[in-house]
Amino acid sequence: MPEPDRLPAADLPPGTVRRSGDWAVGNRGDDKYFAVSRRCRHQLADLSEGSIDADGCLVCPWHQSRYDVRTGEMVEGPTGFLAYHGPTPIYSQLVQAFGRIARLRVRRAARIGDDVVLE
Ligand code: FES
Repeated sequence: MPEPDRLPAADLPPGTVRRSGDWAVGNRGDDKYFAVSRRCRHQLADLSEGSIDADGCLVCPWHQSRYDVRTGEMVEGPTGFLAYHGPTPIYSQLVQAFGRIARLRVRRAARIGDDVVLE
């Protein structure tokens, strides 16, 4: 059985997201850690460079698609595509429909001692 992935908990203060291999690992506060696959379902941005919003969703750094990190589901579609950033209502809904089906992979992440461990 492979060794689980670990990150120092000190590197994951509340509100931050970090990269661990193929995973975006974050801390939503109150020791609520998460790990989801790193590639956005829209245009493959690296979600480990994203942010966590007030609802605890992971926000893509490129066009701000929002993900529920508990399920991996895209809960709000992108605002833009390629280098364009702005309203794209119908397009956004289509991408969101895809992101509801093609969810991010989710892994359990928990603090054990001084580390956050992905199981
Ligand atoms: S690449 Fe993530 S929203 Fe566009």
